[in-house]
Amino acid sequence: MAELLLVIDEGTTSTRAMLFTPSGQCVASKSAELTQHYPGPGLVEHDAGEIWRQSHACAAAMVTLAGGPQRVAAIGITNQRETVVFWDKATGAPLAPAISWQDRRTAPLCQALREAGEEPGIQARTGLLLDPYFSGTKIAWAMTNWPQLKDAGDRLAIGTVESWLVWKLTGGLHITDATNASRTLLMGLGSGGWSDGLVDQFCAPRAALPEIVDCAGRFGVTTSFGGAIPICGLAGDQQSATIGQACLTPGDTKATYGTGAFVLTNAGTLQPRSRHRLLSTVLWQLGGRRTYALEGSVFVAGSLVQWLRDSLGLIATAAESEAIARSVPDNGGVYCVPALTGLGAPWWEPEARAAISGLSFSAGRAHIVRAALEAMAHQSHDLETAFAADGAQWGRLRVDGGMITNDWIAQDLADILALPVDRPDFAETTALGAAMLAGLGCGMFDSLDDAAMMRGTVRTFEPQMEPDVREARLAGWSDAIARVLAED
Ligand code: G3P
Repeated sequence: MAELLLVIDEGTTSTRAMLFTPSGQCVASKSAELTQHYPGPGLVEHDAGEIWRQSHACAAAMVTLAGGPQRVAAIGITNQRETVVFWDKATGAPLAPAISWQDRRTAPLCQALREAGEEPGIQARTGLLLDPYFSGTKIAWAMTNWPQLKDAGDRLAIGTVESWLVWKLTGGLHITDATNASRTLLMGLGSGGWSDGLVDQFCAPRAALPEIVDCAGRFGVTTSFGGAIPICGLAGDQQSATIGQACLTPGDTKATYGTGAFVLTNAGTLQPRSRHRLLSTVLWQLGGRRTYALEGSVFVAGSLVQWLRDSLGLIATAAESEAIARSVPDNGGVYCVPALTGLGAPWWEPEARAAISGLSFSAGRAHIVRAALEAMAHQSHDLETAFAADGAQWGRLRVDGGMITNDWIAQDLADILALPVDRPDFAETTALGAAMLAGLGCGMFDSLDDAAMMRGTVRTFEPQMEPDVREARLAGWSDAIARVLAED
């Protein structure tokens, strides 16, 4: 009997496939690294063929472990958002590199559009800002600079990563879900459809774009793993984590600390409008009705620890950073502003560059490592301030992602935000959200509330820091970020 849910979680640095029982138990998982291509400063690309092969291989391993396709009730897909894939509808082969969400090549185009006064109109229509992060300017750049895309004519398909995987899994179904579509700069946030004006403005051939669908439903069937398995859940990874954290009520907030850090607050069914440089985005769409979120996107989180390990050689393993941070009583006046790929929310300065400041002869490796970890709470505090100014005060924060297995970071977040921080014992909330959507889409659950019982127990970190210590930390951070912004 088909009773398991198969999730494909295609993230920035790795692809994972997982098998869930209807009660939320993860019974198996398999992951594979994804190669990051850096063809020049600020350029980040992926090989869409590799994304497909790795995702397929991980999912196939899960289907075998499940006992065959007949044991899998539905597939849920969740993915790194904004990354754009270009492929040939006739051959199903990529026509160009996938341009990653981290890629900064369109900073000049965004700047020109901002100077032309386009940002307020675009923000009102899409909920987004003019930053290279989003797909629209990447598509405009690719259509101008990669002639093979125009040459492909009607054979050209464009989509975000879930769209590419669905196409490959089904052999030609071209859809995207509303959460992913809401990150492209091409979708009207209120209408839930492609905006003709924006599609033209960003040179996206209309016929190359997918159909926008709900996050749960019977979208299509794959026979890639032997027998037929329906694809029933789709969502961008940050929305999926928000669902996996059961942020189902307006005001509920989660923060995921993965490659970057992404904070989403459930904003209910009325389109939110930020006045403090946050994003409005689709949290989920079910039965054609959208629930929205306010989002703060920070570009560098776990990637900072990787950089300390791989480029600076300051740590041997990411796990070691916790003990090193604990080995000194404080940061010794050292601050790290991790603008390695510009600054995201709430600053949105693509040209800003990172800084480690406050160094003296008494500063050592441990202070720099500690300052890097402290940057997670500092950046989160900037977001907390912007959310509060937009009327979305956090009451507590639900956290997840690879970095947050580090207890020191979880406690530091609680201390600096002065809020209780809830960390689920099962950390893979992104995959869990996709399993919930797949279960809803195949009829295993009646509603998201029903599916939320898949979420397990949590550990709460309560704030403990003395107010004067906290204020001194935040004052030091304000100085450090002000210097980075002044140099920009
Ligand atoms: O918006 C980018 C985001 O979806 C990337 O998430 O988990 O791959 O860092 P992650």
